[in-house]
Amino acid sequence: MKKWQCRVCGYIHAGSEPPAKCPVCSADASEFYEVGPEGEALASMVAGRPTTAPAPEKSLLAKAYDALTDHIYANHLHPISVHFPNGVLPAAVIFVGLAIFLNHGGLQEAAYYNLIFVVLTMPVVLFSGYVSWHKRYKGAMTRNFAIKIGCAAICTVAAVVAVAWRYSDPTIMAAGAPGRWLFLLVNVVMLATAGLAGHLGGKMVFDNRL
Ligand SMILES: [Fe+2]
Repeated sequence: MKKWQCRVCGYIHAGSEPPAKCPVCSADASEFYEVGPEGEALASMVAGRPTTAPAPEKSLLAKAYDALTDHIYANHLHPISVHFPNGVLPAAVIFVGLAIFLNHGGLQEAAYYNLIFVVLTMPVVLFSGYVSWHKRYKGAMTRNFAIKIGCAAICTVAAVVAVAWRYSDPTIMAAGAPGRWLFLLVNVVMLATAGLAGHLGGKMVFDNRL
Protein backbone atom coordinates (compact mmCIF):
# COMPACT_ATOMS: atom_id res chain seq x y z
CA MET A 1 0.00 0.00 0.00
CA LYS A 2 1.50 3.34 -1.05
CA LYS A 3 1.14 6.59 0.88
CA TRP A 4 0.60 9.99 -0.68
CA GLN A 5 0.84 13.37 1.02
CA CYS A 6 -1.01 16.52 0.03
CA ARG A 7 1.49 19.28 -0.69
CA VAL A 8 -1.03 21.94 0.38
CA CYS A 9 -2.35 20.73 3.74
CA GLY A 10 -0.27 17.66 4.66
CA TYR A 11 -3.11 15.13 4.56
CA ILE A 12 -1.83 11.56 3.99
CA HIS A 13 -3.76 9.16 1.75
CA ALA A 14 -3.10 5.41 1.56
CA GLY A 15 -3.72 3.68 -1.76
CA SER A 16 -2.21 2.70 -5.07
CA GLU A 17 -2.94 6.17 -6.49
CA PRO A 18 -3.42 9.61 -4.95
CA PRO A 19 -7.07 10.68 -4.50
CA ALA A 20 -8.69 12.78 -7.22
CA LYS A 21 -9.33 15.51 -4.64
CA CYS A 22 -7.86 16.05 -1.20
CA PRO A 23 -10.74 15.41 1.27
CA VAL A 24 -9.35 18.09 3.58
CA CYS A 25 -8.39 21.07 1.40
CA SER A 26 -9.77 19.95 -2.01
CA ALA A 27 -6.40 20.19 -3.77
CA ASP A 28 -6.36 17.98 -6.88
CA ALA A 29 -4.31 14.81 -7.41
CA SER A 30 -1.36 16.66 -8.92
CA GLU A 31 -0.66 18.20 -5.50
CA PHE A 32 0.01 14.77 -3.95
CA TYR A 33 3.46 13.21 -3.78
CA GLU A 34 4.44 9.76 -2.59
CA VAL A 35 5.92 9.28 0.86
CA GLY A 36 7.47 6.25 2.55
CA PRO A 37 5.75 3.91 5.05
CA GLU A 38 6.51 6.26 7.96
CA GLY A 39 5.59 9.37 6.03
CA GLU A 40 9.22 10.16 5.18
CA ALA A 41 10.00 12.05 2.01
CA LEU A 42 10.90 10.07 -1.09
CA ALA A 43 12.96 11.46 -3.95
CA SER A 44 9.82 12.43 -5.88
CA MET A 45 8.80 14.80 -3.09
CA VAL A 46 11.42 17.37 -3.88
CA ALA A 47 11.30 16.98 -7.65
CA GLY A 48 10.56 20.31 -9.27
CA ARG A 49 10.90 22.18 -5.98
CA PRO A 50 14.34 23.76 -5.99
CA THR A 51 15.48 24.75 -2.53
CA THR A 52 18.93 26.08 -3.31
CA ALA A 53 17.99 29.33 -5.07
CA PRO A 54 19.48 32.27 -3.16
CA ALA A 55 16.87 34.40 -1.42
CA PRO A 56 16.74 38.02 -2.60
CA GLU A 57 17.92 40.65 -0.11
CA LYS A 58 14.94 42.09 1.79
CA SER A 59 14.32 45.62 2.95
CA LEU A 60 14.12 46.43 6.65
CA LEU A 61 10.35 46.82 6.36
CA ALA A 62 10.03 43.42 4.67
CA LYS A 63 12.13 41.82 7.40
CA ALA A 64 9.95 43.44 10.10
CA TYR A 65 6.81 42.17 8.33
CA ASP A 66 8.32 38.67 8.13
CA ALA A 67 9.21 38.72 11.83
CA LEU A 68 5.71 39.89 12.76
CA THR A 69 3.94 37.33 10.59
CA ASP A 70 6.27 34.55 11.78
CA HIS A 71 5.19 35.31 15.34
CA ILE A 72 1.52 35.49 14.34
CA TYR A 73 1.73 32.07 12.73
CA ALA A 74 4.00 30.40 15.30
CA ASN A 75 1.78 31.53 18.18
CA HIS A 76 -1.47 30.52 16.45
CA LEU A 77 -3.04 33.96 16.52
CA HIS A 78 -5.69 32.98 13.95
CA PRO A 79 -7.36 30.15 15.89
CA ILE A 80 -7.01 32.24 19.06
CA SER A 81 -8.47 35.43 17.60
CA VAL A 82 -11.28 33.71 15.71
CA HIS A 83 -12.72 32.44 18.98
CA PHE A 84 -13.46 35.99 20.13
CA PRO A 85 -16.02 36.98 17.46
CA ASN A 86 -17.20 33.37 17.08
CA GLY A 87 -18.03 33.23 20.78
CA VAL A 88 -20.05 36.45 20.64
CA LEU A 89 -21.55 36.14 17.18
CA PRO A 90 -24.14 33.43 17.96
CA ALA A 91 -25.24 35.39 21.04
CA ALA A 92 -25.64 38.52 18.95
CA VAL A 93 -27.82 36.71 16.42
CA ILE A 94 -29.92 35.09 19.13
CA PHE A 95 -30.38 38.49 20.76
CA VAL A 96 -31.43 40.00 17.43
CA GLY A 97 -34.00 37.26 16.92
CA LEU A 98 -35.35 37.51 20.46
CA ALA A 99 -35.36 41.32 20.32
CA ILE A 100 -37.51 41.19 17.18
CA PHE A 101 -39.85 38.45 18.35
CA LEU A 102 -40.26 39.87 21.87
CA ASN A 103 -39.89 43.58 20.97
CA HIS A 104 -37.44 43.81 23.85
CA GLY A 105 -35.42 47.01 24.13
CA GLY A 106 -32.69 45.54 26.33
CA LEU A 107 -32.03 42.71 23.89
CA GLN A 108 -31.86 45.22 21.02
CA GLU A 109 -29.10 47.04 22.87
CA ALA A 110 -27.29 43.79 23.79
CA ALA A 111 -27.40 42.63 20.16
CA TYR A 112 -26.05 45.96 18.92
CA TYR A 113 -23.06 46.03 21.28
CA ASN A 114 -22.25 42.39 20.59
CA LEU A 115 -22.26 43.13 16.86
CA ILE A 116 -19.90 46.07 17.41
CA PHE A 117 -17.54 43.73 19.26
CA VAL A 118 -17.63 41.29 16.33
CA VAL A 119 -16.76 44.05 13.86
CA LEU A 120 -13.89 45.31 16.02
CA THR A 121 -12.28 41.85 16.21
CA MET A 122 -12.60 41.01 12.51
CA PRO A 123 -9.44 42.84 11.30
CA VAL A 124 -7.26 40.66 13.54
CA VAL A 125 -9.13 37.51 12.48
CA LEU A 126 -8.83 38.31 8.78
CA PHE A 127 -5.18 39.32 8.86
CA SER A 128 -4.09 36.37 10.98
CA GLY A 129 -6.08 34.07 8.70
CA TYR A 130 -4.33 35.53 5.66
CA VAL A 131 -0.95 35.03 7.34
CA SER A 132 -1.70 31.43 8.32
CA TRP A 133 -2.94 30.63 4.81
CA HIS A 134 0.30 31.91 3.30
CA LYS A 135 2.63 30.46 5.91
CA ARG A 136 1.10 27.01 6.19
CA TYR A 137 -0.59 26.46 2.82
CA LYS A 138 1.54 28.75 0.65
CA GLY A 139 -1.53 30.68 -0.40
CA ALA A 140 -2.90 27.71 -2.38
CA MET A 141 -6.29 28.61 -3.88
CA THR A 142 -8.12 25.30 -3.75
CA ARG A 143 -11.93 25.15 -3.70
CA ASN A 144 -12.01 24.92 0.10
CA PHE A 145 -9.80 27.97 0.53
CA ALA A 146 -11.91 29.91 -1.97
CA ILE A 147 -15.06 29.03 0.02
CA LYS A 148 -13.38 29.90 3.31
CA ILE A 149 -12.18 33.28 2.04
CA GLY A 150 -15.60 33.98 0.51
CA CYS A 151 -17.29 33.13 3.81
CA ALA A 152 -14.92 35.42 5.73
CA ALA A 153 -15.68 38.27 3.32
CA ILE A 154 -19.45 37.78 3.46
CA CYS A 155 -19.39 37.41 7.26
CA THR A 156 -17.41 40.63 7.65
CA VAL A 157 -19.62 42.59 5.27
CA ALA A 158 -22.76 41.27 6.99
CA ALA A 159 -21.43 42.30 10.42
CA VAL A 160 -20.51 45.78 9.20
CA VAL A 161 -23.89 46.18 7.47
CA ALA A 162 -25.71 45.09 10.63
CA VAL A 163 -23.85 47.59 12.81
CA ALA A 164 -24.21 50.44 10.30
CA TRP A 165 -27.90 49.64 9.83
CA ARG A 166 -28.62 49.62 13.55
CA TYR A 167 -26.57 52.81 13.99
CA SER A 168 -28.55 54.65 11.31
CA ASP A 169 -31.89 53.21 12.40
CA PRO A 170 -31.99 52.51 16.17
CA THR A 171 -35.53 51.12 15.85
CA ILE A 172 -34.70 48.49 13.22
CA MET A 173 -35.43 45.62 15.65
CA ALA A 174 -38.57 47.20 17.10
CA ALA A 175 -42.08 45.87 16.46
CA GLY A 176 -43.43 47.06 13.12
CA ALA A 177 -40.06 48.11 11.66
CA PRO A 178 -40.40 47.20 7.98
CA GLY A 179 -36.78 46.08 7.58
CA ARG A 180 -36.54 43.96 10.73
CA TRP A 181 -36.80 40.57 9.01
CA LEU A 182 -34.19 41.53 6.44
CA PHE A 183 -32.03 42.72 9.32
CA LEU A 184 -32.43 39.32 10.96
CA LEU A 185 -31.55 37.63 7.65
CA VAL A 186 -28.31 39.65 7.43
CA ASN A 187 -27.44 38.39 10.90
CA VAL A 188 -28.28 34.79 10.05
CA VAL A 189 -26.07 35.01 6.94
CA MET A 190 -23.27 36.33 9.14
CA LEU A 191 -23.65 33.37 11.50
CA ALA A 192 -23.93 30.78 8.71
CA THR A 193 -20.81 32.00 6.89
CA ALA A 194 -18.83 32.12 10.15
CA GLY A 195 -19.95 28.55 10.83
CA LEU A 196 -18.95 27.28 7.39
CA ALA A 197 -15.56 29.02 7.54
CA GLY A 198 -14.99 27.47 10.97
CA HIS A 199 -16.05 24.04 9.72
CA LEU A 200 -13.53 24.16 6.85
CA GLY A 201 -10.82 25.42 9.18
CA GLY A 202 -11.55 22.56 11.55
CA LYS A 203 -11.30 20.05 8.69
CA MET A 204 -7.85 21.36 7.80
CA VAL A 205 -6.62 21.25 11.38
CA PHE A 206 -8.17 18.00 12.58
CA ASP A 207 -8.70 15.87 9.45
CA ASN A 208 -5.24 16.09 7.92
CA ARG A 209 -3.96 12.87 9.35
CA LEU A 210 -4.61 9.28 8.42
FE1 LIG B 1 -4.94 18.82 1.14
